[in-house]
Amino acid sequence: MDIRKIYRKLLAGKRCRLKWSRQFHSSIKDILTHPTVRSMKQFPHHGKTNCYDHCRHVAYFNYKWCRALNLDCRSAARAGMLHDLFLYDWHTHGKETGEKLHGLTHPATALRNARRHFKLNQIETDIILNHMWPVTLLHIPKTREGWIIVIADKYCGLLETLRFL
Ligand SMILES: [Fe+2]
Ligand SMILES: [Fe+2]
Repeated sequence: MDIRKIYRKLLAGKRCRLKWSRQFHSSIKDILTHPTVRSMKQFPHHGKTNCYDHCRHVAYFNYKWCRALNLDCRSAARAGMLHDLFLYDWHTHGKETGEKLHGLTHPATALRNARRHFKLNQIETDIILNHMWPVTLLHIPKTREGWIIVIADKYCGLLETLRFL
């Protein structure tokens, strides 16, 4: 293969990455800029990340993996951005409110908050409500996109805790 062919291939790959990166951002633009969603920036999450950044990381990997698998990547990105919209600091929430089951209850809280501001489809609802499986034993994902976030959420959480993200 000559050098021009290699260069053309690299360029095509870069163009493709740029194109899907643009599509990723345009599919969640309204969510990213929403004041309620932006308020997640005040709540610390894993490691040094806040809730907003964590959701952005999960939305990104969700989109990327679902796109590679030919699934509904738009819904994956949008629900990824909303999956932890519980709107409190979970580190102190238990002490302040007596509500100790954050791990089990926050998907339903996030779904309730997300529905207040955005119209959600069935896949997005499944992604948000069941993303904590297997912690929420009986809330099992019913869509393939719902299974992807189970992995993406844990993957991002681990990288954030280890401060790689
Ligand atoms: Fe969560
Ligand atoms: Fe999460």
